[in-house]
Formats: sequence, structure tokens, C-alpha cells
Amino acid sequence: MSTPTEDPARVDLITPELWEDHVPHDEFAALREADPVHWHPEAAPNHGFWAITKHEDVVAVSKNTQLFSSGEGLTMLEEVEPESLEKRRSLIDSDAPLHQHLRRVVSPLFTPKAINAHEAFARTTAARLLDTATARSEFDWVLDVAEPLPITVLLNILGVPSEDADRLITLSNQMIAIDDPDYAPDYDSLPPDIDPKDLPFGSPASYHVFEYGRKIGEERRAHPTDDLVSRLIHSDVDGDQLTPLEYCNMFQILILAGNETTRTTLTHGMKAFIDNPDQLALLKAQPELMNKAVEEIIRWATPVLYMRRTAMEDTELRGQQISKGDKVVMWYMSANYDEDVFDDPHAFNIARDPNPHLGFGGGGPHFCLGAWLARLQIRVVLEVLIARDLRLESNGPARRVRSNFVNGVKSMPVRIA
Ligand code: HEM
Repeated sequence: MSTPTEDPARVDLITPELWEDHVPHDEFAALREADPVHWHPEAAPNHGFWAITKHEDVVAVSKNTQLFSSGEGLTMLEEVEPESLEKRRSLIDSDAPLHQHLRRVVSPLFTPKAINAHEAFARTTAARLLDTATARSEFDWVLDVAEPLPITVLLNILGVPSEDADRLITLSNQMIAIDDPDYAPDYDSLPPDIDPKDLPFGSPASYHVFEYGRKIGEERRAHPTDDLVSRLIHSDVDGDQLTPLEYCNMFQILILAGNETTRTTLTHGMKAFIDNPDQLALLKAQPELMNKAVEEIIRWATPVLYMRRTAMEDTELRGQQISKGDKVVMWYMSANYDEDVFDDPHAFNIARDPNPHLGFGGGGPHFCLGAWLARLQIRVVLEVLIARDLRLESNGPARRVRSNFVNGVKSMPVRIA
């Protein structure tokens, strides 16, 4: 493990309080400037981590899967025993060849063509949610639109009953934001033989999503339909099939990854349009900018603040000696505002071109599986908003999720302008 060095920006990126009411853009700018590959100490028994803040370096780490493993833990804090890592392993925290096998099975279900088949359902759902919300003139953007849309679309694709949406939202909030008192983990809900450290994020909610997926999977094993759960259960891509355990872990990661991230993006995107009405007017006037607008919203929102890798060998990055076993944290939030890559990065510019944002990851085999599904949902919401000629304004402060891992928002009161 590396030895801690002086912290030039003296920033504590771990403390959830730092993220409670804003993104620490100034602190990231200071790190990019003074110490872009920055050794960040941690309290014992943890060992500290490297904070990677430049766009170029995030891409380099992300693409070098030989040197930087996804398989030793996803968050900067996780230092988990190998047996626990094995029990919870899924697509997102596996390396080749297991990752290739899992990805081969699931990739065909998330291609642009496969996802476009769900456009009509996404559009109808977005229109219904927006029409219901705007009938009241004052509403909560997160609770009434941004939260229900992704889970409704995802459950429809998976073939999961829509009446379970609220329960699955609660469970995924508890999985992803264990530091938020509103999403406190319920350890008593675990059977006595289940140890939280064997669960993703150490969260009891992971167990409940896993079990939920297992039951639906058993039903579909017996009575297949054409939904995604049935296809995962009965998958056979050139001989690659999912074991029951791999299927349950896949179900769990899809619920988690496919719901909170899109909600966050839709929320920061709406806030950006409220704060920059000229950009909404521009999109209305030039709808051909839609795809660029969607990418800018994802850059702007950066819903996943970082992903972690672990160095498999001693190596060097920008002159810093990284030791085998060191945690290496790729800060997408910093990379997406890197002034060496993005002109005027703090301007919300829907015509931004090029826009090589890293919101879906820095590239390489783990690039977000659900990117096309997320893009589709952002686009249909904007298209419905524009078709209805809706302009919203803030109606009170937004409340952020207390987390150093996701850029989540719990609530954002709005009204029709
Ligand atoms: C705007 C919304 C979204 C954002 C910003 C986002 C972001 C990310 C990021 C940063 C990663 C990690 C990439 C890496 O480690 O290199 C990831 C992976 C993943 N995402 Fe997304 N995601 C979004 C939506 C979705 C949706 C809708 C789904 C699916 C239903 C999804 C499923 C996944 C899965 C399964 C992985 C793991 C892929 C792998 O390791 O091979 N995501 N996403």
C-alpha cells in the first residue's frame, strides 16, 4: 500500500457532509490543478485511495482493465474480504473472463434496436406522469416524474409487476445511499445466516432485491414469457447461460443501476433548464439538437460521481507511484468539468460539440450497459415537455441525497411558469 502524502487541497472527499448541499466543484478544480493524481488518506482500518480527477487519466484507468481491476470493490470505502467479494459478484464488479461471459448474455437485450422497442411505452408513461403532475400546477419533479418514470419503464422491460415499483425504489435507495438517514439500512430484516458484508454495498436491501428477483425468476423458469427476466433465465448466447446465482445478481444490478441514475439525470437536467431558460428555448427552436442536449444533460448531472478500480500491479500515473492493491477512484464528476477538455465547463450548453463526457464511465468493457435506455427516457421526457409547451420554475429548495457516491436528489418542488 502507498504511504499518504500531504493533501494540498485538504479536501475530505469521503465525508458525506461535503456533498450534502452541493457538488464540491472548487475542491475538484484545486485537485486537477495542484495534484490530479491525489493520495487521499482514510481512517483505519482502511488504507486510503488515489483520487483521479483529470479526464485523460480517468479514461486511461478505465480502459486498462489488465492493470486496474473492477473485481475488488466498487466504492472508495470498500475493503472487503475475498470470500465476501465472491459471494456478491455481479457484472459490474467482475473482470474477464467472467465479465465477458455475463456481458455477452445481457448485451443483446440493451442494444439501441432492442431498447427502441420500448420507446412507445416510455413516451406514454412520460406523458401520463407529466400530465398528471402538471394538472396540479405545483408538484415535486422527483417524486411525480423523475422517480416513477425510470422504474416503471424498467419494470415493464423486465416483466416485473408495476405495483412493486415503490418497494423496489425504497430498496434501491437504501442500497445506494447507506449514509442517508432517510434510507437507513434495516439490518434486522436479514435472516440470521446472512452477513451484510457479503451483500453489495453491505446493504440489507441488496438481499431483498436479490430474493425478489429470485422469486420472479422461478416463476419465469416455469412459465416463460417474452420479458427480460424470462430471456435472462432462458438465455443461451453461443452456449453462455446464466447460473441461478448469476441471474439473481444480474437482476439486482439492473434494478439498482437502471433506476436511480436516470432519475438523477432527469432531475439535474430539469433544474438546468429552469436555470437556463434560453437553452430550453433553443431546443424548442432547434429540435435537431436533441441528441446533443441529452449528452449535455448527462455530463451536467454526472449521476454516478465515481467508480473505483484496484491496481493489480505497481504502476505510475503522472509521476505518482501507485502500488499493487491500491484503490484507484475515477472521479467522473471532476473529469466531466475538466477545463482541458470542455470549454467553459460550468456553462450548460445543449449544443456542446464535441462532448466526450464520462457520465456512463470512462470507456472499456464496463461502459454503462443501460446507456441507450437512459438516453431514450431523457429524450422522451424532453419531447413531451416541448410538445406540451411546458416551462417550469423552482418552487422551493431541492433536497440532495446524502452520499459521496451518487449525485442524487430526493425532492425538487416546481411549478408551471
Ligand atoms: C443516465 C443514466 C445512467 C448513468 C449516468 C449510468 C452510469 C453508469 C456508470 C458510470 C457505470 C460504470 C461504468 C464503469 O465502471 O466503467 C455504469 C455501469 C452499468 N450501468 Fe449504467 N448508468 C445509467 C443508466 C443505466 C440504466 C438505465 C441501466 C439499465 C437498466 C444501467 C445499467 C448498468 C449496468 C448493468 C452497468 C454495469 C456494466 C458492466 O460492468 O459491464 N445503467 N453505468
